Amino acid sequence: MTQNMPGGSRFDGKVVLVTGGATGMGYAAAEQFLAEGAKVVITGRSEAKLKLAAERLTTAGRVLAVPTDVSKPAEVDRLVSAVRKRFGHLNVIFANAGVGVFKRIEELTEEDVDYTVDVNFKGVFYTIQRSLPVLRDGSSIVINASWTTHRGLAIGSLYAATKAAAANLAKTLASDLSDRRIRVNSVSPGYIDTEMFREGVPTAEAREDSARQSVQKRVGTPEDVARTVAFLASDDAAFVNGVDLLVDGGVVNSVPA
Ligand SMILES: NC(=O)c1ccc[n+]([C@@H]2O[C@H](COP(=O)([O-])OP(=O)(O)OC[C@H]3O[C@@H](n4cnc5c(N)ncnc54)[C@H](OP(=O)(O)O)[C@@H]3O)[C@@H](O)[C@H]2O)c1
Repeated sequence: MTQNMPGGSRFDGKVVLVTGGATGMGYAAAEQFLAEGAKVVITGRSEAKLKLAAERLTTAGRVLAVPTDVSKPAEVDRLVSAVRKRFGHLNVIFANAGVGVFKRIEELTEEDVDYTVDVNFKGVFYTIQRSLPVLRDGSSIVINASWTTHRGLAIGSLYAATKAAAANLAKTLASDLSDRRIRVNSVSPGYIDTEMFREGVPTAEAREDSARQSVQKRVGTPEDVARTVAFLASDDAAFVNGVDLLVDGGVVNSVPA
């Protein structure tokens, strides 16, 4: 379900890139931006998921789906060429693609480390770096981090560290790109009901446990995050820069009653 914000179409005529846009929070964000007038580019590794998502988004002519592995700079370059050819430029990037490998530190392999760093940190870095030539001055970048960068989670060492690295980019890039009036922020979702969450928390009982960790006693929806991302990307957040915004129903900062 998308929700138009009061005041109308904040993204009319804007072009938005959403990495990992075929599923979960990325898909919800794509829907939200489209509902507010944007043209949207979605990426992911799976062509099948992208095709399905593009069909479901049903906004013919305003969606471009480009299969891309964001951890590979050459593929990101190809994505940027496709954006340039179809829409000419970008106004917003939601660097959302990510993976989660959750194991005790003794069990993590070199492959786990390389894979997670490659997608969660290098993927965000290359998405932003390689898109800069088509990103208009005055644009906005939002990085998808995680509540686990704020509070330790058992078996989350590798995941949380890569997310912390990605979130940290918002602070430095807010300064680095200020000469081009590009704002850079991150969101830190709490437990959000997506494929990734259901893989990591597979039973209904365990998901209820996750819900109880929030003072609102529920897990979040992809739309909870999508609306926050749209806010940060919009002119409503014109003076918000270099921050990480928790979207977690209070998991990090409040003890449930
Ligand atoms: N769900 C939660 O509770 C939670 C909490 C905090 C933060 N997050 C973060 O939120 C983001 C979105 O996750 P989600 O929960 O919405 O789960 P999701 O549905 O699994 O979304 C992850 C997306 O990233 C894409 N992706 C993964 N590796 C990629 C790569 N190398 N190149 C391009 N795309 C790639 C996936 O598509 P392909 O597999 O087709 O590539 C998928 O569409 C992630 O960064 C995740 O770490 C999730």
